[in-house]
Amino acid sequence: MIAHQHDDFAGRVAIVTGAGSGIGRATAHTFARAGAHVLAVGRRTDALAETASAHPGIVTYSADLRAPDTPREVTDAAIGRWGRVDVLVNNAGATQVMPLDATTADGISALFDLNVTAPSLLANAALPHLRRVRGTIVNVSSTYGHRPLPGAAHYAASKAALEQLTRSWAVELAADGIRVNALAPGPTESEALAAAGLSEAAIEQIKQDEAARIPLGRRGEPDEVAAWILRLADPATTWLTGQVLTIDGGLELT
Ligand SMILES: NC(=O)c1ccc[n+]([C@@H]2O[C@H](COP(=O)([O-])OP(=O)(O)OC[C@H]3O[C@@H](n4cnc5c(N)ncnc54)[C@H](OP(=O)(O)O)[C@@H]3O)[C@@H](O)[C@H]2O)c1
Repeated sequence: MIAHQHDDFAGRVAIVTGAGSGIGRATAHTFARAGAHVLAVGRRTDALAETASAHPGIVTYSADLRAPDTPREVTDAAIGRWGRVDVLVNNAGATQVMPLDATTADGISALFDLNVTAPSLLANAALPHLRRVRGTIVNVSSTYGHRPLPGAAHYAASKAALEQLTRSWAVELAADGIRVNALAPGPTESEALAAAGLSEAAIEQIKQDEAARIPLGRRGEPDEVAAWILRLADPATTWLTGQVLTIDGGLELT
């Protein structure tokens, strides 16, 4: 576990979506340890409760981010409790194996509703509050947001969209002092492969293949990713905006 020595986030409020597992859970813990109040968002109340049990600074909010009213309700919950939103971490996302010959409209919509529309509507709902405090947005993309992913092209396309939203919002919101960046992790231990409906045997095979292709020789741990999400959001990171930072053990270089 990566410890943080500073409390630069004391009194600040972070919304972290997808906080019931994987990268989102580690991110909620990392921000809470840095002194932030964290609203941990996801669907499963038990998973969120486990996240929150690690730190008193974490409060949970259970909702489906694909529902059109959820983004505003999430933002209202943070404002109702703490009166401000300093950081929005758009982390909730899903992957889907969907080769072109099995591609459906419903399959595309399910991916884009969660990976593109929900982060957009959350950013929209949080915007007036971010403006007030010159806050920041961190979008969680993927190394496959900027490299091909045969067999899961629409996942890659949804993350490419998120990266382009990041760059466009960074310029659009710069005059408000709002920084917008993205973190693009490579294969990281989480519940993502199981959530995609893959069998245990298939997951094990994918993990072995990925580890073999990554120059540093292993998949990442959620804490290793969360540390950089915190750094992108850190108020001390004053002149960085519109960037996509890849954390993938060197996979992108291969
Ligand atoms: N792990 C990797 O290898 C990897 C690599 C690159 C990028 N990423 C990205 O990293 C982010 C986090 O993924 P992860 O790997 O940590 O996977 P994960 O463990 O599956 O976490 C995703 C979280 O999102 C939540 N979520 C899913 N659908 C939701 C919905 N409709 N409404 C609200 N919450 C929802 C899930 O909780 P509920 O099911 O309880 O809602 C879950 O806790 C994703 O954007 C993913 O694309 C992951």
